[in-house]
Amino acid sequence: MRDCHREIARWMQSLGVPARVDAAGNIRGVYPAVQPNAPRLIIGSHLDTVPNAGAYDGVLGVVLAIALLEELQGRRFCFGIEVVAFSEEEGVRFDTPFIGSRAMVGRLDNKLLEIRDAHGISVRKAIEEFGLNPEEIPQAELGNDTLGYLEFHIEQGPVLEKLNLPLAVVEAVAGQSRLEFTFLGRANHAGTTPMHLRCDAIAGAAEWIGTVEHVAQGIPGLVATVGKIEAKPGAVNVIAGEAWLSLDVRHSSDEIRTRAVVDLSRQAEEIAARRGLSVRENTLLSQRSVAMNAFLNDEIAQAILKTGCKPHRMASGAGHDAMIMAEKIPAAMIFLRTPGGISHDPAESVAVEDVEKAIECGLHLLDQLAASPEFQQRINRG
Ligand code: HGY
Ligand code: MN
Ligand code: MN
Repeated sequence: MRDCHREIARWMQSLGVPARVDAAGNIRGVYPAVQPNAPRLIIGSHLDTVPNAGAYDGVLGVVLAIALLEELQGRRFCFGIEVVAFSEEEGVRFDTPFIGSRAMVGRLDNKLLEIRDAHGISVRKAIEEFGLNPEEIPQAELGNDTLGYLEFHIEQGPVLEKLNLPLAVVEAVAGQSRLEFTFLGRANHAGTTPMHLRCDAIAGAAEWIGTVEHVAQGIPGLVATVGKIEAKPGAVNVIAGEAWLSLDVRHSSDEIRTRAVVDLSRQAEEIAARRGLSVRENTLLSQRSVAMNAFLNDEIAQAILKTGCKPHRMASGAGHDAMIMAEKIPAAMIFLRTPGGISHDPAESVAVEDVEKAIECGLHLLDQLAASPEFQQRINRG
């Protein structure tokens, strides 16, 4: 993250934009308006990613924001532009996502600061070890001088490639539930314990993982994933006494998503009871589905049209900082086509021509917002 900050600060400084790192580790820089202290539009995305990731998820949105400023070649608007690169969106280290953007909407609270990583280091400690002061987190929060938030992001799925389109307007970001389940059995000797006398935590977890897949396959639009599994004591010749699993459930309808989570919890209990196991569950996140701002969506569609492309409108199955920023300011996203629909993997990619289209679209959008009476009103409201 330090190397990223150094590089991004260098890019910003070359544009005359001083970079600062807020107490949540977000690196931010303001490209000023024509008049000082004018309200500003935020353009950004996240810098962190997942293990064995691709090179575009998140960081492309940061690079595109800076490239837009570069393309302006000193041209200024009646609003400022703040580039924000969020410190933590994926939720990999602390199993809790959106730490950077939650700080900007005033939700990086003490409960979150006390969450610990696999080494027992709390979010608070990690912030201090990075050389930042958690007491200053309130200063990271957005003031009322922000007009909106725009995020460029790879689609991370197959839709735009199938439609052979470079860009899309994101109308909504699907809600997501993240939970952890621990199946508890009885560790025992793998060689001497007959099959009918076992309380095998991994076997119970495995049956439930199959059930997770089966339930999700039966509900249109629902996705459910067990991405992490850890067993204890974790030896070849020991029947597992404990199996810990993560669960990620998503759907554009919050009701369908939460109903599926309740059903999967019930099935975990049933499987555990039948196998002489017990099961513990803990909800790590229940993030509602969030609609993007209709006014900004229409402006983006216009801007995409001006690049000569059809503006496809779609929902996002992936979560994004935009769904958090939308809690405080109008938020919108522009998707770029993901070749092969592959993401969260080194095979993740973008087409250079699509990146060019995104920059062109961004420049049209800035001009449109500068000329928009509705946006002017927001600026005057200050
Ligand atoms: O997991 C997600 O939805 C995204 O990659 N943060
Ligand atoms: Mn991601
Ligand atoms: Mn992302």
